[in-house]
Amino acid sequence: MRKQKILTVEPKGSLFYLKTYGCQMNKRDSEVICGLMAEAGYRITDDSAKADIVIFNTCSVRQHAEDKVWSEAGRFKKGKIIGVVGCMAQNYGQDIFERSPNVSFVVGPADIEKIPGIITKLSNDKAIFERKIFEIDSLARPEKIYHTNFYEDKNHAFVVISEGCSNFCSYCVVPYVRGHLHNRNYEDILKEIQGALEKGITRFTLLGQNVNAYKYDTLDFVRLLRLVDAIEGLEEFSFVTSHPRDTSVDLFKAMNDAGKLKKYLHLPAQSGSDRILKLMNRGYSRKFYLDLADNYRKIVKAGALTADIIVGFPTESEKDFKGTYDLVKAVRFNAAYIFKYSPRPHTEASRMADTVPKEEKEGRHRLILEMQKEISNKVKRREYEKPE
Ligand code: SAH
Ligand code: SF4
Ligand code: F3S
Repeated sequence: MRKQKILTVEPKGSLFYLKTYGCQMNKRDSEVICGLMAEAGYRITDDSAKADIVIFNTCSVRQHAEDKVWSEAGRFKKGKIIGVVGCMAQNYGQDIFERSPNVSFVVGPADIEKIPGIITKLSNDKAIFERKIFEIDSLARPEKIYHTNFYEDKNHAFVVISEGCSNFCSYCVVPYVRGHLHNRNYEDILKEIQGALEKGITRFTLLGQNVNAYKYDTLDFVRLLRLVDAIEGLEEFSFVTSHPRDTSVDLFKAMNDAGKLKKYLHLPAQSGSDRILKLMNRGYSRKFYLDLADNYRKIVKAGALTADIIVGFPTESEKDFKGTYDLVKAVRFNAAYIFKYSPRPHTEASRMADTVPKEEKEGRHRLILEMQKEISNKVKRREYEKPE
């Protein structure tokens, strides 16, 4: 959770405030929204009280992320244009207006390029204002939104290589709110990097929910890494997030060979119990994960490894939990992000009873967190790009 920094925009029109929740995809989307708003003549402010327009770019991945938005959107009274955009917009659609009557418009992730136009309409036409504007229908976003004018950081850029996700892990709402996996054309990706380089940006992060599954024509992720590594003027790059099922020794070799690639892999394990991994629809076993981690350490010299873990998935027993605890202990991650299972609408797992009591989830969460803290203190400290 972070406040949006101010972009350099010529002061002209009304002031807007934008708050971003969730993952780096959302952060990149917020840059896009800021850029589009600036192009349309709006000015950004980091003071929500002064803003005429308040936009929440939201996340639905866990209940907690949504609760924050519900309470914050409720804080603003009439007189401001309030927009809920991003994953919650897609998740709840029209229902947002019922739950949060002050909200003026709702726009899903695939329609963000429409936001400035919607706000202009809302500002000029009270009748439309009453009707609320609602856009969640587009399937794919236009390539033109990945404009190189829209980076928040002067030295580093997030470059989306794929949108959405088709993995349908049973607990996860992302495929329902972001749609199926859609790979950007590598020529467009390389063009975007080139454009950013011309603006003096030399560090990059390639983004996707499962970057390893990237494929455009015959070009796969390993080949994309090699292409990016060869770009003249580019100094350093990394990628996030990887899915164990699509991760291979070939990728590790390519990682080790790529001179400009940060030796860092975020490889969510989610669980160390084969039974739970199956219920999660993750497509790999505990042994597969442990072997991958071993190979990574052997092949990628001085490589850092981080993971996400979920505790308290429906039916997770003490024995299942111990499997996860032992996996985290055995792998000695540089950092691990531990989440308590949160039932999400639309998902397969939400049809299972949420059987692990809250206190039990909290206890399991604490146990892994404390153990990992000790490990993280012992292994070399580094800054990681936390995925969410
Ligand atoms: N595409 C990435 C990240 C997805 S969301 C990946 O596959 O790893 C980031 C993390 O949130 C996930 O790795 C998972 O650990 C966690 N997460 C997703 N859905 C969740 C849920 N319903 N409850 C708790 N944690 C969840
Ligand atoms: Fe969600 Fe799984 Fe896709 Fe990650 S890989 S975004 S956890 S469905
Ligand atoms: Fe959240 Fe949407 Fe990202 S649900 S984790 S902001 S893709």
